[in-house]
Amino acid sequence: MTDTRTPCMVLGDRFGAPPDFGIVLGSGLGALAEQVEGKTVASYDQIAGFPMSTVAGHAGQLVVGKLAGRSVALLRGRWHLYEGYEPTQVTIGVRSLARWGVKALVVTNAAGGVSPRLTAGDLMLISDQINLTGQSPLMGMPAFVDMTTAYDPAFLETALAAARDCGVDLKQGVYAGMAGPQYETPAEVRMLAAMGADAVGMSTVLETIAARHAGIRVLGLSCITNAAAGGSNGIGVDHKEVLKTGAAVSDRFAKLLRATLPKLQV
Ligand code: HPA
Repeated sequence: MTDTRTPCMVLGDRFGAPPDFGIVLGSGLGALAEQVEGKTVASYDQIAGFPMSTVAGHAGQLVVGKLAGRSVALLRGRWHLYEGYEPTQVTIGVRSLARWGVKALVVTNAAGGVSPRLTAGDLMLISDQINLTGQSPLMGMPAFVDMTTAYDPAFLETALAAARDCGVDLKQGVYAGMAGPQYETPAEVRMLAAMGADAVGMSTVLETIAARHAGIRVLGLSCITNAAAGGSNGIGVDHKEVLKTGAAVSDRFAKLLRATLPKLQV
């Protein structure tokens, strides 16, 4: 029989009261889910309305429990436009967490470094975004959402302070979201730099729009896995390398997030 419940009804039935934080884990960063204490796990195919994610490096699980003493729901695997999903499907996880009642969202991703300040292995706090997908999850709704503080200024300050306290080097910059799935050409990377982007990826921007529409505050973290378009050395970009670098920085990424979460006031 078809499950006619909405995803947020499924989440409430299965997991009870909503946690404080929703956390979307990007490519290669899924290992954080193993650190969740007292966890309950649901595969996306058990949640009515959640499409199964199809990308290597994305497990397709919702993990609910405690991380660094805070209640969290981790989306281990997200949906991308390049998989053929509509903007409303891409944001189904975030919108479901918001409707369930999470108070804040942490979006994470693997990204290519556009700015020469960023090199593979760096962690970058997202200070702002440029949505270059040509899409919006709000299309069809007259929702004129204010995006002037898309990434919460108080969260930014808290994360920077937490990074200093735990000795993790944390850069800051503007994330540009492209539709993908092809990586960028060198000319596109020059365009992105001219536009003011520091990093580029294929996710996150629509999720942040959906979260702001739902009134949820957002913290964004990018793991710089490569120089966009391979940088000036002509080595190109390889998806396997992106996943490998993501995995290599996952300890530092976890350390930073574990130091930040207890300090975020929601
Ligand atoms: N471009 C777009 N998305 C990415 C990249 C990149 O260079 N690296 C990881 N995700």
